[in-house]
Amino acid sequence: MFSRLLRRTLISTRNFSTSKHHNYKVAIAGAAGGIGQPLSLLLKQSPLITELSLYDIVHTPGVAADLSHIETTAKIAGFMGPENLKQALKGADLIVVAAGLPRKPGMDRDDLFKSNACVVREIAEVTAESAPKALLAIITNPINSVVAIAAEVLKKAGKYDPKRLFGVSTLDVVRANTFVAELKGLCPLEVNVPVIGGHAGATIIPLISQATPAVTFPPDQLQALIRRIQDAGTEVVKAKAGAGSATLSTAYAAARMAISLVRGLNGEQNIVECAYVESSVTEAKYFSTPLLLGKNGIEKNLGLGRLSDFEQDMVKKAIPVLQKNIKTGEDFVINN
Ligand code: LMR
Repeated sequence: MFSRLLRRTLISTRNFSTSKHHNYKVAIAGAAGGIGQPLSLLLKQSPLITELSLYDIVHTPGVAADLSHIETTAKIAGFMGPENLKQALKGADLIVVAAGLPRKPGMDRDDLFKSNACVVREIAEVTAESAPKALLAIITNPINSVVAIAAEVLKKAGKYDPKRLFGVSTLDVVRANTFVAELKGLCPLEVNVPVIGGHAGATIIPLISQATPAVTFPPDQLQALIRRIQDAGTEVVKAKAGAGSATLSTAYAAARMAISLVRGLNGEQNIVECAYVESSVTEAKYFSTPLLLGKNGIEKNLGLGRLSDFEQDMVKKAIPVLQKNIKTGEDFVINN
């Protein structure tokens, strides 16, 4: 599992290193945005990353100049405008997609499909051309649909490898760990709650029965906890009152996932993260479960594990929602 040590060292000091190669290029699409900037800052601190390529449609030169003064190894390059996307992604080992619009109060994630579908399609098209072997990790919402867009675009280009495409749902795990720790008076670093399914509403399925350390809650408290994890994104959207959605916690979660992916590429063992990937674990074509990461992306899908009756019921209810979301993404590529 994502180790305590790794979480403690997510923000690594410049002297910290457990890596063998230290030679990875990570590209961030949407690097000048609300998530992209703190994500770039967090990744600039990883000694595993030697090249950090920042792409956005505006403001990238300033963000790149600013980050480039930080005394860590990663070399920073900034690329602005669609005409430079190809160069930004070229040869990347990992591409993190943080581009696109955030929610406003009253919207759900599906309402972002219209604006963000094209953004993901464009990045997937250029990935196929410029970095066909890259791991592609997508934060852009609605994750449940846009991962299918990326897959279909890569398939069309003959470059799809299901082991290399990830919808980043780490934020759900991060939130579940935090809320369980708060309720039980535990240190959040000690808590691990797998979260499976998708990344919206009832498709977010926290597996409290598989939490470590083991925790139990009376039924009412369990329901409220699960609802809070499922609605946590909306909690932030409401609190920001029109100024967007979660950016800092999203950047933290995305950095955690990105660093785990790079550690996997680097041959480190026992790196496990939940992510939304192509899957045969349920009838939904894409589904988040814990994954063992390695040199080729996904080494092994660790599946659902043992579910309580309540959790099984949540999975059953989530599947038709996910299937609909996935079809929306696939249809977009067919019809556009
Ligand atoms: C989140 O979970 O915070 C993100 O998916 C952003 C959002 O719109 O909720």
